[in-house]
Amino acid sequence: MCGIVAYIGRKQAMPILLEGLKRLEYRGYDSAGIGLLNDGLKICRAVGRVRVLEEKIRTVEGLAGTIGIAHTRWATHGGVTEANAHPHQDDLESGHGIAVIHNGIIENYSVLKKYLEEKGHKFHSETDTEVLSHLIGELYHGDLEKAVQAALREVTGAYAIAVLCVEEPDTLVVARKGSPLMVGVGNGEYIVASDSSAIVAHTTQAFTLPDFTVAKLTRDAFRTATIDDVPITTEVRELEFELAEIDLGPYDHYMLKEIFEQPRSLRMTMQGRIDARTGSIVLGGIAEHARTLANAKRIVMVGQGTALHASMVGRYLMEDLAKIASEHDFASEFRYRNPIVDFGTCVIAVSQSGETADTLAALQEAKQRGALALGVVNVVGSTIARESDAGVYLRVGPEIGVASTKAFTGQILALSMLSLYIGRRRYLSQDYVTSFIKEMSGIPDKIQRVLETSDAICKATAKYVERENWLFLGRGVNYPVALEGALKLKEISYIHAEGMPAAEMKHGPIALIDKGMPVVFVATRNSQYEKVLANISEVRSRGGHVIAVATEGDDHIRTVSEEVFYVPDVIEQLQPLVSVIPLQLLAYHAAVLRGKDVDKPRNLAKSVTVE
Ligand code: G6P
Repeated sequence: MCGIVAYIGRKQAMPILLEGLKRLEYRGYDSAGIGLLNDGLKICRAVGRVRVLEEKIRTVEGLAGTIGIAHTRWATHGGVTEANAHPHQDDLESGHGIAVIHNGIIENYSVLKKYLEEKGHKFHSETDTEVLSHLIGELYHGDLEKAVQAALREVTGAYAIAVLCVEEPDTLVVARKGSPLMVGVGNGEYIVASDSSAIVAHTTQAFTLPDFTVAKLTRDAFRTATIDDVPITTEVRELEFELAEIDLGPYDHYMLKEIFEQPRSLRMTMQGRIDARTGSIVLGGIAEHARTLANAKRIVMVGQGTALHASMVGRYLMEDLAKIASEHDFASEFRYRNPIVDFGTCVIAVSQSGETADTLAALQEAKQRGALALGVVNVVGSTIARESDAGVYLRVGPEIGVASTKAFTGQILALSMLSLYIGRRRYLSQDYVTSFIKEMSGIPDKIQRVLETSDAICKATAKYVERENWLFLGRGVNYPVALEGALKLKEISYIHAEGMPAAEMKHGPIALIDKGMPVVFVATRNSQYEKVLANISEVRSRGGHVIAVATEGDDHIRTVSEEVFYVPDVIEQLQPLVSVIPLQLLAYHAAVLRGKDVDKPRNLAKSVTVE
């Protein structure tokens, strides 16, 4: 949800900023802009992708300098226009040459705008960010850091900002509250970005700014203080991932790369967490809360999008393995429902990025009401990771494709381990845990086998790719997989797809089925299998074309389906980990066949840091 990158150092800033924007483009790509200081401020902005900005830059003279800021936008306030693209400046006539890039939302911007208009400020965009840049300008009296601090004291909402000023050509000021921001510390240079992917090419030393903090960066030093100017110390740490992890390698798209990474990423999720000697699950991050978890009366898992679907699987696992009453909920609904949460409740925020605004707010709400708040998060040091009482990291590596894939399977595996961990402290026998762990350990190899069928899935998908309406059906633990399959297809192919419990179809959606409509059944062998077969018959007798995800060796299903995507046999609780793989591949191939931009689907953003 908007990517920001800024540089101050001794090198030319432009290539570093453009490279950073490309790395961060998954966060938003409606429009982009860049601002450089070099004997005055030069700005270039463009509607569209970073490559459009890049082309436009070639036509602008004098864009150079060793200090600059750049932004890729996902529109919230104001349409997708060049005037609304960042950087925004303070008053063009009476200002100080201040330029701001911003990720987040200034909630009280209309009150501030009115105040500034009364003082004579003229605005040129519809954005909340321009209001902030004018406010900084209004409060500027020769010290940019102080002006930023003063402005942020007046602001409510969320922000990660980087600010330049013509009158202070050797200073870059950055600040954050709510939205992510990281400062990379190089040799005589700093690279600031929304996440480390734009930093690792230059340095592996970095620090994250706490909320309500401002950092003043000059070429050789930095100072961090709160917005009330109380100095704070920050810990510079080593970034944990390598550049290779965020490179495409031989793949055409990040989504495909990440789908194929799943055997490896899931091994990473399990690494060090299975004690083969004792046959137990080791989750260091939550060890001190083991007793509270074992005594919990209720578990609520919250998330959005794919993370919600993983939470739905998590609910089955928690109830089945830990035998604790469990629920899943949209974080956005949970937080506003006046939820009943007390000391016996454990709320688990499930999030790849650890920055999703609604999920974060739900976690904070739960904490405030006395719940134990856990995070099941991928990005190390992200806001949810920091705000939760404890948690389990996914460790699946950076996920760049907007459509989440390896994070989904990582979330399910982490929740499986958590359920087993709690279950063993309640009712589960050692024998059961030992055999479950054995099944879990075999999952990566089984996923590998499914990946090898990618070409066959592509061929089958091609037959249906022109169809505009699809249904995805599943029961029990495969119902969330059906939802996830439908979500993947719609978000990257723009095909209308609905996921639902297979039994629910006859209560209305069956009316949609006409001749040749693709209906995807997640029909692996488990306790619900016979019932799913009955639902398949209902679809066939109305002319629908059945595409089944089924268990290897199930020959019967061939006789009732147009297409079958086989997956290896797995115990019921873990079936989503393999049954989702053909659906990820189906969505991927459908999008490619339809000529869509797989990694940057329209209107979407990887990390939604606004409500
Ligand atoms: C966005 C992304 C989805 C993701 C959801 C939750 O909508 O496009 O792919 O599932 O946010 O993100 P999170 O980072 O909290 O898992």
